[in-house]
Amino acid sequence: MTNRANIPSLHEVYKDHFLIGAAVTPNTIQSQGDLLKKHFNSITAENEMKPVSVQPKEGQFQFEDADKLMAFAEANNMELRGHTLVWHNQSPNWMFENEDGTPASRELLLQRMKDHIDTVVKRYKGRIYCWDVVNEAIEDKRESYLRESKWLNQVGEDFIAKAFQFAHEADEDALLFYNDYNESNPVKREKIYKLVKSLLDQDIPIHGVGLQGHWNIHGPELTDIRAAIELYASLGLKLHYTEMDISVFNHDDKRTDLSAPTEEMLELQAQRYEQVFEIFREYKDVITNITFWGAADDYTWLDNFPVRGRKNWPFVFDTNQQPKESFWKIVKF
Ligand code: GLA
Repeated sequence: MTNRANIPSLHEVYKDHFLIGAAVTPNTIQSQGDLLKKHFNSITAENEMKPVSVQPKEGQFQFEDADKLMAFAEANNMELRGHTLVWHNQSPNWMFENEDGTPASRELLLQRMKDHIDTVVKRYKGRIYCWDVVNEAIEDKRESYLRESKWLNQVGEDFIAKAFQFAHEADEDALLFYNDYNESNPVKREKIYKLVKSLLDQDIPIHGVGLQGHWNIHGPELTDIRAAIELYASLGLKLHYTEMDISVFNHDDKRTDLSAPTEEMLELQAQRYEQVFEIFREYKDVITNITFWGAADDYTWLDNFPVRGRKNWPFVFDTNQQPKESFWKIVKF
């Protein structure tokens, strides 16, 4: 095994480019603690700051896990990206309903949105440097623009603008991001662009676009990644890659026969990490944070998505938290 102390620190290597982040949990700040401290200077809570985690019942906020992650960041001089305030997923049902189970009115839902954002953002005011205010509001399918959701159906399209206004009122110094996946896809990127542009045109406080970057060893095309960066950067906002991982499987590949990645997979992965980091470096003036959705192959949500219980190996550190070929490709340039 490589002695950890002898390898370069990712975030130090990239100190003149952007922050290097990882999604973490109360477990991984222990199980991956040393790795995180050495290589990362930004963290994101994988689940602990999502609406259903912090406000499972109306007015009953739970910050214990979120606070642990905040304390870990502060103890180790790391930034924390807040994730996320308004989303169709992992949000508690009560938020959208009246006591009798009928849908809450626009007014009530907006009041609850405001209370939620206000409480969460103010708790970490001045400590969380940026927030993914709205997550995944754009529809993937070509035909429609915004995703069907309770937010959209019960409030209307301006739920997005309202969320940014409430967040800005709660902490006027926090950088506010719109975050989405399939961000490089030619159809979807135009819609994301359209949404963010419309917010800017209405003078809504938005400061950045979060590009999730859930990719795999075959796609998306580098030309699409570059085109998406150019397009979003043309809005004059900062870009963060917020949830990067490079799956060794195509999305439609359901094979479950592997207990370790093949040589070919590792080769392709290393090549892709090299290529995308080359692009990131080129755009360092607009890209200010590259966050992985995890840190090392011993823990990844992809072990349960899209195939439950199938191991995946998406990061630059392996299951023993040792550097992979991918790591060497991104630290030597
Ligand atoms: C989305 C969300 C994240 C996380 C990932 C998968 O990308 O934004 O919070 O849930 O899916 O884990």
